[in-house]
Amino acid sequence: MDVKMFAGKVVLVTGGASGIGRATALAFGREGATVVIAGRREHLGNEVVAEIGKLGAEALYIRTDVRKPEDIDHLFETLITKYGRLDIAFNNAGVSLSNVPSVMKTTIEEWDLVMETNLRGNWLCMKQEIKQMLKQGGGIIVNTASILGFSADSRLSYYCASKHAILGLTKCAALEYCKKNIRINAVCPGPILTAMIEDTVPFVPNMLEMLRENTAMKRIGAPEEIASAVLWLCSDEAAFMIGREITLDGGYTI
Ligand SMILES: NC(=O)c1ccc[n+]([C@@H]2O[C@H](COP(=O)([O-])OP(=O)(O)OC[C@H]3O[C@@H](n4cnc5c(N)ncnc54)[C@H](OP(=O)(O)O)[C@@H]3O)[C@@H](O)[C@H]2O)c1
Repeated sequence: MDVKMFAGKVVLVTGGASGIGRATALAFGREGATVVIAGRREHLGNEVVAEIGKLGAEALYIRTDVRKPEDIDHLFETLITKYGRLDIAFNNAGVSLSNVPSVMKTTIEEWDLVMETNLRGNWLCMKQEIKQMLKQGGGIIVNTASILGFSADSRLSYYCASKHAILGLTKCAALEYCKKNIRINAVCPGPILTAMIEDTVPFVPNMLEMLRENTAMKRIGAPEEIASAVLWLCSDEAAFMIGREITLDGGYTI
């Protein structure tokens, strides 16, 4: 009999309607999980729900802007009312700024957009996830950081700041809640071909060539290559791992 790795598990994927989140939501669905997708673009969310349905798993899209605390409250109320538990959360919603402004040129609005999405939004989701996981006796959380969570790029200060902070938050929360059977880790993708990178091409025309050139393996990664690491982190194989990150970057940072 084909035993699916995440059968019976309820999994939340924020930013699950595109890119890395979409690939991860589909991978969880393929492994039998019930997948809840949170994000702003309803048509994309519903497309992923339909794709997971074709894989024979259940999925639900809940429209959520992680910059809005009331949306996050609604997300968790709906999820818990429907499924009664949350086994795994992948906090992956994130933005960057396609126009790559320098430290001096970044506006307060741009700074707030990145910080409220990448840092505050994921922190608010973690609070709700931990609250539920404490009630049910445990759970697993994975946050999407980046190689820019531990390295630097002079054009991406706002993004680096948010991703460095996510790694700090991951470590502190992992320390605090490992005693309560909640395992918290992060993934650090290098360049992965998604809308986030493609959107910068009009502003930095040689972006894709530059990323390929700077990567030891001379290629940009695929979202599925991050999804497989997230699933591993959420499996029993990773039972002794907390507060750490897996870096998948084709050698970009070595
Ligand atoms: N691609 C890379 O090279 C790379 C490298 C390192 C880290 N990352 C990280 O990987 C994660 C996923 O990005 P991606 O590359 O897959 O790009 P993407 O396709 O643009 O995905 C970003 C996702 O975040 C969601 N999102 C953005 N703002 C949101 C908000 N306010 N509320 C709820 N959801 C929001 C988007 O959905 P809606 O627009 O529908 O809300 C989208 O599904 C991000 O955290 C990113 O920082 C990417």
